[in-house]
Amino acid sequence: MITRRSALSVAVATTGVGLTGAALAPLVAANSTPANPAAAPAAAQPAAPAAVEKFRRPMPLLPVKRPLGTAGRADVYEMTIKPARAEILPGIHTDVLTYDGHFPGPLIKARTGRPVVIRQRNRLTVPTAVHLHGAAVRPDSDGDPMDVIAPGADRVYHYPNRQPHAPLWFHDHAHHLEAENTYRGLSGSYLLTDATERALPLPAGRYEVVIALRDARFDDQGQLAYAMGDRARNTLLANGVPYPYFEVAARKYRLRLLNASNQRRFDLRLADGGPLVQIGSDGGLLAAPHTTDHVPLSAGERADVVVDFSRYPVGTSVVLKNTNGPGPAEETGEVLRFDVVRTADDPSRIPARLRTLPPLPRPDAERAVVLRMDEGGEHPGAYIDEKTYDPERVDAFVKFGTSEIWTVTNANARAEHNFHLHLVQFRVLERDGRPPQPGESGLKDTVFLAPGETVRLQAVFDTYRGRYVYHCHMFEHGARGMMATMHIR
Ligand code: C2O
Ligand code: CU
Ligand code: CU
Repeated sequence: MITRRSALSVAVATTGVGLTGAALAPLVAANSTPANPAAAPAAAQPAAPAAVEKFRRPMPLLPVKRPLGTAGRADVYEMTIKPARAEILPGIHTDVLTYDGHFPGPLIKARTGRPVVIRQRNRLTVPTAVHLHGAAVRPDSDGDPMDVIAPGADRVYHYPNRQPHAPLWFHDHAHHLEAENTYRGLSGSYLLTDATERALPLPAGRYEVVIALRDARFDDQGQLAYAMGDRARNTLLANGVPYPYFEVAARKYRLRLLNASNQRRFDLRLADGGPLVQIGSDGGLLAAPHTTDHVPLSAGERADVVVDFSRYPVGTSVVLKNTNGPGPAEETGEVLRFDVVRTADDPSRIPARLRTLPPLPRPDAERAVVLRMDEGGEHPGAYIDEKTYDPERVDAFVKFGTSEIWTVTNANARAEHNFHLHLVQFRVLERDGRPPQPGESGLKDTVFLAPGETVRLQAVFDTYRGRYVYHCHMFEHGARGMMATMHIR
């Protein structure tokens, strides 16, 4: 079914440190491109090249979205959700779905205590719902799967920003469409900051960079090929560009990493094994920095990592590698390359204590949640507690103002899952009976579950009442039914 074209071999001059193997990533061409109603047929385009040359284009910064104005204490935004064409592959215009024409979507900068109001204008031919992942918002602004914006309609979302700082992101959540809509480009970033975070002497300004990572598969016309559960998405994109380079100064940078893939889990490391200092995760800063040589990131998760490029001489480079499949290492083993091009002053520091995490109250209730999907079969079912998502059904009633421990199990022998709760930032108490990994010891909204694993987490439900979903954040599992509803009342 899938024909892999042979990789061209081209000598690329590099002065890089740790630049490994092939400098070319072959594209995987396939013959099946499901119809996308929003994408016009790509006529009169050159065929996609057989390979994308790595490290030839710079990684763009996400465009920062500016508010239209203010209303009371709120920043007011307007965004148009529309089809567009993006030059993802050199010389080729790829049909994408966008927030405001950007692939990936823009970056919204918000502050705790200052609400954001966004009018979203749906100019797609399909319904969409906008979900601000990781945020505590009222149910009617949560982008519930059934609460969609019809084509041509507008919808105003209210984000109160009453929670502490956190690297949030937004994406499509329309029932059964979220996987394809998000894949085609409907995701963006939302950095919520607060006084606690800003008081720290961490790298900031141009030395704080959001990097949205994902995978994709292009057909031989250079169009995004979408198939549910596709394991051949072997082109990696950083801020919308395949295998870019990013010029840095020889000093510390704070990298705000997001895995916006539909299903891929990354395991990121520097090619020379150099240190990555993880300072934060989904729900903001960790209590203390954690120095490691790799950062795992499942779909939907975020990691806040400081890299000190002063250990590299000016004129050298270091590749950010990914050591987790699927896909051959020459296609999915390298993500981007940092090129150290100049020196710079560096007054930034990583304090030994970053924040005080809110204390966990005594839990009021416990419940168990089991994630499972059929392994094999053309249309595998996907379940939470052996039930497929039914938006009419409430699966968990939670008493407002209480705290619960959820024991979440991946009942599969081979399939990976992860688990995302809307509305709350939780704490991971245990992973398979052991303490959480250091990188997941802070506030989280999405947690990885290897086959057979069990994670115990605790959340406090004291912000809003109403119905919210929880699901596997491998979008294609959620879209197949691995999603359920809780009602906080
Ligand atoms: Cu990013 Cu329902 O999730
Ligand atoms: Cu979410
Ligand atoms: Cu899953």
